[in-house]
Amino acid sequence: MTTLLDQISTLNDLPSTLDGPVLVRVDYNVPLKDGKVADTFRLEMSLPTIHTLLRRGAPIILMSHLGRPKGKVVPGLSLRPVAESLSQLLEERLSSATPSCDPPQVHFTPQVLGEEVSARARELSPGEILLLENLRFHPGERANDEEFARQLASLAAGYVNDAFSACHRAHASVVGVPQYLPAFAGHQLVREVEALGRVVEEPARPFAVVLGGAKIADKLPVIQRLVELADLLLVGGGIANTMLAARGHSLGSSLVEEEMVEEAGKIIQQCLSSHTRLVLPQDLVIAGSPQSTEMEILEGVEVPEGMMALDLGPQTINLYQRHLRSARTVFWNGPLGYAENPLFAGATRALTLELHALHETEVVVGGGDTVSAVREVLKSHPELRKGFFLSTGGGASLEFMAGRELPGLSALTGEGN
Ligand code: 3PG
Repeated sequence: MTTLLDQISTLNDLPSTLDGPVLVRVDYNVPLKDGKVADTFRLEMSLPTIHTLLRRGAPIILMSHLGRPKGKVVPGLSLRPVAESLSQLLEERLSSATPSCDPPQVHFTPQVLGEEVSARARELSPGEILLLENLRFHPGERANDEEFARQLASLAAGYVNDAFSACHRAHASVVGVPQYLPAFAGHQLVREVEALGRVVEEPARPFAVVLGGAKIADKLPVIQRLVELADLLLVGGGIANTMLAARGHSLGSSLVEEEMVEEAGKIIQQCLSSHTRLVLPQDLVIAGSPQSTEMEILEGVEVPEGMMALDLGPQTINLYQRHLRSARTVFWNGPLGYAENPLFAGATRALTLELHALHETEVVVGGGDTVSAVREVLKSHPELRKGFFLSTGGGASLEFMAGRELPGLSALTGEGN
């Protein structure tokens, strides 16, 4: 069987004869706080591709979007702080790996395109990196404008897509540029396709899905597909509330998607009529509000008026941990409680530690909030264990898991042309 990756050229195929810079689509759509990068995960995940290109002596032009500025310049969404953060990261990582090497210089252009950008691209030397300003400041990016894509392509001799998490967008830097340049997949993109591909195509069984987060509506196609694929579905977060409501329980002031209660009932039925075992919370952590400084453990799932379900209770955590111990593949998407408040991060913390300790089980965690909660729990671990994969993709991972074609991947196979 030919897999998607068989049809894609990777960095191993990069010819040594490329004459000019390599234009790399990264996804530096990262949270900013007080003008600084608040979470460097996506930057860190782009380092292996950057290192490979540096070793090959290629000048690098990085391009990314940040937020949704709708084709206009929005100063608060400039990539300048990202350039600073990337520079710092490269310095830290390179100086510990090869203390005698000078860290590469990261330059930033406050424009996306134009004479000045072209001149800087031409002057780049091997070992230098140029980060372009937010692609979405230009209307041509979202419109997949041909001329815009052509101008971006004219800056370089080759194109690398290392932005798996943007591959569900048919934007110029994702699908337009690779039509004009030899195109390759970056290391992180390949890792994502391999890890998520294994989960959907040939999961070692039992295959458990842990599903959390606020809304069913955002994830319906992927939930339906996962119910078909999984042996076990363990539910938490707002999604569990809506499912409990569909079972006729009262949820007090908890977050419940009223308009999705009927759909939740259908998912429950779908599980009952398939081999998938659905496990819902049996007890809960409740409080008056997500910002509360006090909490109560509720036995059972009838939430009193004025109170909200904000995390799984200890019995449920225990039950989910036991189920996970028997699984061989686990896909987890969505926090299981209101993990921003440490009082309600108990289930997310306990399941993270459990899954990280299950050395025989392949674990894939997806979704921005879930990954940052998991990283917070594991921050004292110098390295993640083998087989424990954190996906950079939010919407892209879900679309991939739902079996949809991602335009950015098709563009790399040449099918998008
Ligand atoms: C993401 O964060 O999921 C990607 O960067 C895509 O961002 P978008 O939903 O604004 O296209």
